[in-house]
Amino acid sequence: MDMVKLIAGNWKMHGTSADLGEVRAIATRAGELAGRVEVALCVPATLIHRAAEAVPGFAIGAQDIHHKDKGAHTGDVCAAMLHDAGATVVIVGHSERRDAHREADADVRAKAEAGLGAGLSVILCIGESLDEREAGRAVATVSAQVDASLPQGEIDLSQLALAYEPIWAIGTGRVAGVGDIEEMHAAIRQRLVAAYGQAGSAVRILYGGSVKPDNAAEIFAVPEVGGALVGGASLKAADFLPIVEAGA
Ligand code: G3P
Repeated sequence: MDMVKLIAGNWKMHGTSADLGEVRAIATRAGELAGRVEVALCVPATLIHRAAEAVPGFAIGAQDIHHKDKGAHTGDVCAAMLHDAGATVVIVGHSERRDAHREADADVRAKAEAGLGAGLSVILCIGESLDEREAGRAVATVSAQVDASLPQGEIDLSQLALAYEPIWAIGTGRVAGVGDIEEMHAAIRQRLVAAYGQAGSAVRILYGGSVKPDNAAEIFAVPEVGGALVGGASLKAADFLPIVEAGA
């Protein structure tokens, strides 16, 4: 049975209270499509509380989390604080953070476990560099990332999704070919079943990297694509909603 697709927007470092109209428009349409597609919007931490209050019942998310529950971590935010602000989802391990903040797979695993442990849904990102792709090491690289990043212990797999985001496709307008997406999502699925048994077959694997209204339907038709993690095209309802509707 086809899983309901999860279409998540990642606003990155964009968005203030002046953009709440976009949040409302996205949430309204998402509500009309409830049951056919699941939508979330991961906004800057400064906007979470206002956005969650503006659209009660709609999934507002964060883009990172500290793995500890409190302490001397200047500038960081823990799961309970995100939950308190109204977030229900959190992205962990985005390549932009793995790179800029030197987040290792073990850090991503700890973040995922902290988010799940606090009742947040987690979108765990993996993806290869252009060098790794061109050297023919993409599947091996991403498979190793999955094995070392997946949360362990007593977890609710229904609250976990993975996002395959080839780094060279992020923000470049260069989307991965459907053959490459199919090969990689099949490899990721194999690692999920290896880690969690048959329960691993129900974890959605999103694709991210230059998803746009004109390529979304083709990407969603690829086996094992359980949705999308969308950057630039999620900033405006007019761009994001055609992608959401393609996933419905
Ligand atoms: O997390 C989603 C993001 O990395 C993809 O960005 O702008 O290529 O859709 P974009």
